[in-house]
Amino acid sequence: MLNALSRAQFHASEWLSSPGSSPINATVSEQQLRRAFDCRLPDTGAPADEVIDFIANNARDGLLGSSSGGFFAWVIGGILPSALAADWLVSAWDQNAALYTCSPASAIIEEVAGEWLKQLFDLPREASFAFTTGCQMAHMTALAAARHALLDAKGWNVEEDGLFGAPPIAIFTTDHHHGSVERALRYLGFGRKSIISIETDVSGGMDPAALTRALQAHPGPAIVVLNAADLNAGIFDDFNSLIPIAKSFGAWTHIDGAFGLFARASKSRMHLVDGIDQADSWVTDGHKWLNAPFDCGICFVRNSKAHRAAMTLEASYVTQNQSARDQINWNPEWSRRARGIPVYAALKELGREGVADLVDRCCEYCHAMVIGIGGLPGAEMIVEPGLNQGLVRFVRKGASDADNDVFTDHVIEAINATGKVFFSGTTWRGKTAMRISVVNWQTSDKDVKTAIQTVADILAGMRELSQCR
Ligand SMILES: Cc1ncc(COP(=O)(O)O)c(C=O)c1O
Repeated sequence: MLNALSRAQFHASEWLSSPGSSPINATVSEQQLRRAFDCRLPDTGAPADEVIDFIANNARDGLLGSSSGGFFAWVIGGILPSALAADWLVSAWDQNAALYTCSPASAIIEEVAGEWLKQLFDLPREASFAFTTGCQMAHMTALAAARHALLDAKGWNVEEDGLFGAPPIAIFTTDHHHGSVERALRYLGFGRKSIISIETDVSGGMDPAALTRALQAHPGPAIVVLNAADLNAGIFDDFNSLIPIAKSFGAWTHIDGAFGLFARASKSRMHLVDGIDQADSWVTDGHKWLNAPFDCGICFVRNSKAHRAAMTLEASYVTQNQSARDQINWNPEWSRRARGIPVYAALKELGREGVADLVDRCCEYCHAMVIGIGGLPGAEMIVEPGLNQGLVRFVRKGASDADNDVFTDHVIEAINATGKVFFSGTTWRGKTAMRISVVNWQTSDKDVKTAIQTVADILAGMRELSQCR
């Protein structure tokens, strides 16, 4: 056992000390990876340390440096030292964090981590919470609570009677909602047709007048899903206008704060999430801006009775605790790892001030990069970040929009192939763009300079090439 662990520690240390010295992109092909791993199921086993060496040596070049400071694709955070080390302990302890009786320490640490998060985000202290596998399952958990509460108010017990024949629930959101909301709704028995798209206003957020009209047109149980913030441009809905409207129609307001809820922790960004505490449920990720390891989402539900009713489970062999928090009452899974422990570690390592500083730093770096890259010849800024997400696009004089779409993809590919930095693309208002997303505690001035210089070099090289033709 110990040999395997020390080999894992060796490979992990090597991996973690590699940023800057090894490429951020994967350098092996799908075929090479398959050749390395897809061998016949062995008839006989092998020593554990050799298995670890085999996996580490063959996987290495097929890994992305997503935990390094030069990685700006999607919204993928890094990993804080204490959170990573705590995660190792979680695996070594191998606790089933479903019940207090199964793992008293896990139950208490997760209970405290949930309370700390409510304080950090200044959410209602009476709210219940759950540590889920990610934001999508946090959506599912919170929306199951919404489904319970809204149908219960209509005299319908969804846990007993299911959804067949139940009063329909309409879901209102903008086109900027994340795909995980739709999947969570699907798991809960709501088809895509239950989702009604509300127009946006000039800010890009949900138009309050359009929401009022939609709620008037659809009397009956309703859920309003708002963004804090959207994944492309970091757009926040106007909570102070929209939540009171939803409330006046008896609708449940649910907030997708996968990363944007962290604006609550920073004095300089707090205004973006003003009024968010009036909602009924909120979700965020631990594995994004908190830089906890995958997998870790979190949901908070104001109506804890509805949350518990939607998730709880009784079985003859399950001993529920009367005073401590049994996770099984709040989570969708039965057996589960204590993913709240790395969250506890991250919050203890950073403290309130450390989280605020992390948020501010990422926002400033994102801004500097969007301005720096957007100002290069051959580039333009599409969205100036108000938080930690911005968009740029690459353009050639006289080229059509369609040609510039192809060119933008081409530039992103060339940037990533350098192995120095890594970005991802998206489509924004019908045009291809490069996302600049900063959520990593390790991102530094040097990473930002490298990113701008790398893009400048790629664009200059492409200009030279087109002049030679
Ligand atoms: C705004 C938003 N919501 C939800 C999600 C889904 O989160 P997860 O991948 O943790 O399920 C993401 C992930 O990128 C996101 O950016």
